[in-house]
Amino acid sequence: MSKGSVISVAAFALLSAGAAAQQETVPDPSLEELLSRFSNEPDRFTQTDGESLYRTTCQACHMEDGQGAVGAGSHPPLAGNPKINSRHYIAGVILAGYNGMPRFADTMSNQQIAVVTNYVSIHFGNDFPEMMTADGVDPLRASE
Ligand code: HEC
Repeated sequence: MSKGSVISVAAFALLSAGAAAQQETVPDPSLEELLSRFSNEPDRFTQTDGESLYRTTCQACHMEDGQGAVGAGSHPPLAGNPKINSRHYIAGVILAGYNGMPRFADTMSNQQIAVVTNYVSIHFGNDFPEMMTADGVDPLRASE
């Protein structure tokens, strides 16, 4: 094989590897996977503050800065999203899940749902000052 064709074969191999990497999408983690990776208990999340809960349970899909993701694994942004201008809406989605998003009703307490709702409400450029409380989450459980 001439030197030129060795180079072109190598270039082709690199290009195909690049194309395969682009098509590959990381599958969404399941609830069980999130629990086994981040929780000290098998059936519920143990983090107690909003930031830790966001980092361990929401970030995998909604990204570090709340920008969400587009394409094969489409996740709505939590930044600049007018639909989330309601702490009841956010808490309701967390409780009940939403299509590809798992429900957290069984793995988070009312207090945990309240603090992660509040974290989302005042981060990523969001400024929804009304805070959710554990007592405010409780009645939403009945309707989820
Ligand atoms: C496994 C991936 C995944 C995880 C983990 C996840 N979400 Fe989601 N989330 C989604 C998807 C997918 C949707 C959109 C469903 C649809 O529109 O069909 C969504 C929708 C939402 C919405 C509604 C947005 C809108 O525009 O209506 C909110 C709010 C939300 N997620 C907050 C959270 C919070 C807070 C957490 C952590 C407690 C979290 N999500 C964890 C995948 C995820």
